[in-house]
Parts: sequence; structure tokens; C-alpha cells
Amino acid sequence: MSRVYNFSAGPAVLPEEVLKEAAAEMLDYKGCGMSVMEMSHRSQVFDDIIKEAEQDLRDLMHIPDNYKVLFLQGGASQQFAMIPMNLMKNKVADYIVTGQWAKKAYQEAQKYGKVNKIATSEDKTFSYIPDCSDLPVSPDADYVYICENNTIYGTKFKTLPNTKGKTLVADVSSCFLSEPVDVTKYGIIYGGVQKNIGPAGMVISIIREDLITDEVLEGTPTMLKFKTHADAGSLYNTPNCYCIYMCGKVFKWLKKMGGLEVMKERNEKKAKLLYDYLDSSKLFKGTVEKDSRSLMNVPFVTGDKDLDAKFVKEAKAAGLENLKGHRTVGGMRASIYNAMPYEGVEALVAFMKKFEEENL
Ligand SMILES: Cc1ncc(COP(=O)(O)O)c(C=O)c1O
Repeated sequence: MSRVYNFSAGPAVLPEEVLKEAAAEMLDYKGCGMSVMEMSHRSQVFDDIIKEAEQDLRDLMHIPDNYKVLFLQGGASQQFAMIPMNLMKNKVADYIVTGQWAKKAYQEAQKYGKVNKIATSEDKTFSYIPDCSDLPVSPDADYVYICENNTIYGTKFKTLPNTKGKTLVADVSSCFLSEPVDVTKYGIIYGGVQKNIGPAGMVISIIREDLITDEVLEGTPTMLKFKTHADAGSLYNTPNCYCIYMCGKVFKWLKKMGGLEVMKERNEKKAKLLYDYLDSSKLFKGTVEKDSRSLMNVPFVTGDKDLDAKFVKEAKAAGLENLKGHRTVGGMRASIYNAMPYEGVEALVAFMKKFEEENL
């Protein structure tokens, strides 16, 4: 068996320890004589799995009791519609558009009400996070929406926007559990799990209880009502059982590693290694303004498309995979999520130095 260093933006690298554990339990989960993939979601065994996963997530993020944790299907993209359907009481919402995922959410919300783009960084190809300390928040806005870490462009909000008292909703897909957060600052904090937590196909949405009501937009399907899932403990219908099990394992791994403070330190150390090299390189250049840099997604370019392609190809041959930038922006991107070891980033930087020497 040989494993590569996988810099994919998602689905992405998972902790090796977790994969080995899952493999060992594949045929017989804890003496049940069956795989978690094969068991009823109504069984006691699965009930323990989902409850433990939720509790471990609550412990890691210090989620207060007045927030529900929902394990939902439809990925992060389904939240783009669920959020307005469930939250738009006045049919008004303010969006801060800092990348393609925020833009998609902004466009989807327009189907349901009046949606204002109160800030954007599109003028400079989303290479920075705008100043959000004094935005024209609408007096009747039901919520203010952000994408906290922009996976494609590699930017991250270092301070949350001043929402002037309005409910903050954040997509944290690509920075989920990468550092501590104060959940009380958000009305909803949600993310697809396929980047920093588990396999693809599930979104975790952490929602303040007062936002979960029967008062949703007319025509909202039962499956798209937060209340449906909150009332049923994420078991209204058959959930993504295996994904919940895998996420639960990653939560335990994170606890064992020391929790989110420790992950933050590790992530800062990894990102610094790469950013410091980018800042000193004569060939490679980071594409993001320094004070907006993400710890998770690091885009960079040589400035020459052919050389970028050569780099991606040679890196792959050297066991450094999925470094191609997003299809809409080109260049390279290294996603260095929680499960990417420091050694992986060291190997990447060493390869980049060698490539620089050979190609400058
Ligand atoms: C920040 C962000 N939001 C949303 C999505 C969409 O997630 P999904 O594919 O789970 O719908 C992605 C990436 O896939 C993302 O990076």
C-alpha cells in the first residue's frame, strides 16, 4: 500500500488512523456481525453512533444547549435554499459575496425574496475579504450571510462582519473544526463535511433554536424544513448513516489530538511553512492579500499557464496529488485541512523549491 499526500479541496484527505479503524470495523462493527453500512438507522447501535457523534461535536465546538445540531443530506448547496426558506420571515436578506460559493447562495436566495449584496470582493477576483465593520445592513433583513472560508480563492474572514444585531449565517464548509469558534455569534453555522470532517454527501447545520419554526415560506417541502429534522433528531428519514459514523470517528480523533485549540496551532504552523516559502519564492506567488489568507486553502501561481500545468503533472508523479487550482481560476491550490500532516506540507515545499531551481 502506498498513500499519496492528497491536497484535494474536497472530498479530501481523512486521518489515516480513522480510515484504518473504519476498515477494521467494516465487516463486523463492535460484535454486531454487520457493517454500519448495513444496519438499520433505527437500531440501538446506530442510535448510539449518532448521539455520540453529536455529543462529541458539541464538546469540540462548545455548542450551547439552545442550538440544534442537524446531520442533513443535500450537501452544503442544499442549505443555499433551505436557509432562505426557513429564515426569510420579512423576505429580505443581506449577502456578503466573497467567492463563488457565496455567489451561488446569493443567487439561490433571490428566488425567495429581496436579497441585497451589501459587500463583495469581486472587483479583485475575490482575492481579499472586504472591510465589514460598517456595512449598510438592511433594517428589515432576516439575516446576514457569509461564506467564512472561500475554498476556491483561499480567503478567510479574520473578524466576523458587524451585522448590526441581525442574525449571522455562515457557510464554514472549508474551515469547519479548523480552529475554535464562538458559536453564540452565529444564528446558523453550517458546512459540507467532505473537506475537513468526513466523506461527501452530508452537511452539518448548527442552528439556534429560535430560528427553527413552522413559520417557513409557503410551499417549503417537508424535507427542507429545519423543524422536520430538528424534531426527529436528524432521523426523519434514513440519514447518511455511514457518513455520520465516519464523522463521529473524526470528532473522536480531533478530541484525542487535543481539540480545536491544538488544531489551530497545527494549522497555523502548516500554513506558515507554505506561505513563508511563497513570500520568498521567485517563481511562485500567492494570489491572496496577506491579511485575508486562509489556513486551509492556499492558491498560488507561477504566472505561466504551461509552467503551472508542468508543476501539477510533476508534483503528481512525486506523490503530491490534486494540486490543480479550481477549474474556474487555474493555477494551483493546496488544500491543507486538519488531516494533512505537517510532513505533507514539508514535502510540498521541498518539491516546490526543487521545481523552482529547475525552472527559473
Ligand atoms: C465553501 C463551500 N460551500 C459550499 C460548497 C458546496 O458543497 P456541496 O458540494 O456539499 O454542496 C463547497 C464545496 O464543495 C464549498 O467549498
